[in-house]
Amino acid sequence: METGMPVLSVVEGIENVLDRHQRDKTAIIAILQDIQDEVNYLPEDALRYVAHALDIPLSKVCSLATFYKAFSSKPRGEHVIHVCLGTACHVRGAVRVLEAVERNLGIRAGETDDSLQFTLETVNCLGACALGPIMVIDGEYHGQMTSAKTKSLLKKMRAGEAA
Ligand code: FES
Repeated sequence: METGMPVLSVVEGIENVLDRHQRDKTAIIAILQDIQDEVNYLPEDALRYVAHALDIPLSKVCSLATFYKAFSSKPRGEHVIHVCLGTACHVRGAVRVLEAVERNLGIRAGETDDSLQFTLETVNCLGACALGPIMVIDGEYHGQMTSAKTKSLLKKMRAGEAA
């Protein structure tokens, strides 16, 4: 099957983002961020499309997409969990929190579960060190996390999903 062209709905999403940024190639990072928000991740075909539309070498777009940790080349889960492993969180037990999430979800940091429900990522500092260890779920901060709090938070999330 011939590939290389994103499906129509994805093209529309990308076109909307490009228009919003007036096809300004200097805004490439913001454009990639918005496309990821729109499409959920950055498929190679989308990078190819953007490179062509903005007349930027594909190699440059690809290197930006792989350089920034915020960008993902694989589909992400409906819920994105970040566990901070920065120094302040680390000394307060962030690794135990991370292990609790990994055990609970059955995935490792950097992975997404098969049902595309959860993506687990680590970060180096979220700027809220006094509240560490910090975990962020879908942009919502949860401070002073412990293994037990992690377990109960994930249980509540799953219950909410099932409800
Ligand atoms: S080290 Fe975790 S928020 Fe700063």
